[in-house]
Amino acid sequence: MRILITGGAGCLGSNLIEHWLPKGHEILVIDNFATGRREVVPAVPGLTVREGSVADAQLVDECFSLFRPDVVIHAAAAYKDPDDWLEDSTTNIIGSIVVARAAQAFKLRRLINFQTALCYGRPQELPIPASHPTAPFTSYGITKTAGEQFLLLSGVPTLSLRIANVTGPRLAIGPIPTFYKRLQAGQSCFCSETSRDFLDMADFLDFMDLAIAEDAPTGIFNLSTGEAHSIKEIFDLVAEHLGLGAIEVPVVPPAADDVPVVSLDPGAAIEAFGWRARVGFADTIRRQLVWYDRYGISDVFSHLKASGQDQ
Ligand SMILES: NC(=O)c1ccc[n+]([C@@H]2O[C@H](COP(=O)([O-])OP(=O)(O)OC[C@H]3O[C@@H](n4cnc5c(N)ncnc54)[C@H](O)[C@@H]3O)[C@@H](O)[C@H]2O)c1
Repeated sequence: MRILITGGAGCLGSNLIEHWLPKGHEILVIDNFATGRREVVPAVPGLTVREGSVADAQLVDECFSLFRPDVVIHAAAAYKDPDDWLEDSTTNIIGSIVVARAAQAFKLRRLINFQTALCYGRPQELPIPASHPTAPFTSYGITKTAGEQFLLLSGVPTLSLRIANVTGPRLAIGPIPTFYKRLQAGQSCFCSETSRDFLDMADFLDFMDLAIAEDAPTGIFNLSTGEAHSIKEIFDLVAEHLGLGAIEVPVVPPAADDVPVVSLDPGAAIEAFGWRARVGFADTIRRQLVWYDRYGISDVFSHLKASGQDQ
């Protein structure tokens, strides 16, 4: 298949590339490297990289018209600075509109959008069903939700996935790398009294293989385990992994702008796709820690080797 991935140099995009290139898919990436890394999209056969923004309609149209994708994975997103509403709007809203319009114009058969669980805001029920009303309250959540609405409005066959916290190669933010780094350096830690839903990259990639099939369902689905696990549980697993045993750690109330518990009900995805997360919580965290043992946290390790060609 010819797969266009916006934001392909990011965490999820680059893992998809490593997973799909060996299967013979041809991939085009559009990325402005705001948070993505050049090293993870080297010059290798089957992979083309266009540097630029999804908000640039000329660039996006050119990519559609030259590459003629069978499927588009819309993974580009801005979130770096919570106060930069303009950048979040440009990438997450305008960028999604540009992709939606190009998809309409080029009669795209399948578009897959990655959405954040922050679209649900403060959930009224747990685990959160995909039918739960959206109520985002951060710049990232608000703009990603507006972007998703435009994609759905386009009439292009769209699968929008509200995704749990995916762990896997190159994960460099959140409690797992933070505890690993700090405990290894002998530094103190604290845990916020919050819980999240963690999905192993292997389960995410298994789902994505099903998601790109031409006759796969469209609509809105949660992609998750449906289980909430506390940040303290992660701390204990990291301490155990580092051979530190059970250590005391302060558990502090969540910040005012934090959501105490996020777990997403994957029931609809299980029914429609016949998929289910297989890697249990403790194994998901341990697999991540073993990856850090091997490759480190800040090192950008890619399984793709540059071929020396120009990109
Ligand atoms: N990783 C997760 O657990 C998770 C969970 C829920 C949703 N998501 C969604 O999945 C997508 C990918 O997330 P990620 O974790 O890989 O993040 P990431 O930051 O690693 O990847 C985002 C990519 O988008 C690129 N980008 C930013 N602005 C752009 C622009 N204007 N034009 C082109 N490229 C641009 C960045 O450089 C980066 O490579 C995002 O849409 C995010 O909202 C991720």
